[in-house]
Amino acid sequence: MIRRLSELDVEGRRVLTRVDFNVPITPEGTVRDDTRIRAALPTLRRILDRGGRPILMSHLGRPKSRTPMFSLRPVAEHLQSLLGATVHFADDCIGDAARAAIEQAKDGELVLLENLRFHPEEEQNDADFAAALASLGDAYVNDAFGTVHRAHASISAITAHFVGRRAVGLLMERELDYLSKVFHDPPRPFVAIVGGAKISDKIKVLERLLEQADVVLIGGGLANTFLAAQRHNIGESIVDERYISHAKALYDRYGFKLYLPVDLVIADELSERALTSVVGIQEVPLDGEWKIFDIGPETIATFTDCILTAAFIVWNGPMGAFEFKPFRNGTLAIATAVADATDSGATSIIGGGDSIAAVALAGVSDRISHISTGGGATLEFLEGKPLPGIVALEE
Ligand code: 3PG
Repeated sequence: MIRRLSELDVEGRRVLTRVDFNVPITPEGTVRDDTRIRAALPTLRRILDRGGRPILMSHLGRPKSRTPMFSLRPVAEHLQSLLGATVHFADDCIGDAARAAIEQAKDGELVLLENLRFHPEEEQNDADFAAALASLGDAYVNDAFGTVHRAHASISAITAHFVGRRAVGLLMERELDYLSKVFHDPPRPFVAIVGGAKISDKIKVLERLLEQADVVLIGGGLANTFLAAQRHNIGESIVDERYISHAKALYDRYGFKLYLPVDLVIADELSERALTSVVGIQEVPLDGEWKIFDIGPETIATFTDCILTAAFIVWNGPMGAFEFKPFRNGTLAIATAVADATDSGATSIIGGGDSIAAVALAGVSDRISHISTGGGATLEFLEGKPLPGIVALEE
């Protein structure tokens, strides 16, 4: 069993809370996107309301050394303005600096410790480092869904010090509740949409979704490998030769529920000024430098029809190179269809940085049931892999 925050006694305790504040910071030192910080607020407010004192631990980026650009200090300032409560910042995540900041904090205040990855022992899941962190708290909460797939000291080794005093936070609980629906009695019809550039990144997720879903819609660069496996000409488009036979085997087995594009937007170059053309999948020209960059209007119509019949939708990965205006129609249309289906009662889950950016661009983020804060973590969950952060909380 895994304890929930509501079942953890936090009153008067220093609650060592692992969050994922791995957020983009501008060169001027301000937070550029605070989605992950906002996502942790319910847990922090709950701990404060119940008389606990949150001691926050996070990583930021992948620093090779202790440099200011990887400092969490700007996050402390941002968090303070969001919460309206004092956030003390500790210049180190262990030792005297951490202890001093914790001693300064009064009831109703928080502490944010400096970037865990300034110590290489964090990523090594080092037992001594975990013990040093653990000595700073009386109870442990993991709310860092975005990092739950990493067996790092603040996620994994540390939990041994909190047997009977460790729990998942509210964000983690919400993420797991939504994503678990994929494997446990999902509402039906269940429509999965998988896109993105590389088939190698998505093949395992695709396999799981093909097992679970009623319909799987495939777009983006990874569709090219499926089209090539069907012996369609794909011009100079990206294709991963290593996966052609795999894609063929999946199509042979699941062709009845696997939808590929029937038309495409092709162009001579990936740019705002590209010369584009809409062609059927039989018509990609053999000559020239043509590449596929988006799904076409007929595909959009078919995919939209499928999405609108769904009771449960999981979407990971864009349908084309949507960062460029000429190639964003497919992705924006899918974002709108998912939002429309949600308005009509479907449950929708979106994961992966690109699809999240796409729903934001389409202006429909607040019409999606759940936007996951995990990138790699969401993919590993959907692949069906055990997640170290969850395993470490089991009692
Ligand atoms: C993420 O952004 O995916 C998480 O914060 C994990 O970061 P990492 O891939 O550097 O471990």
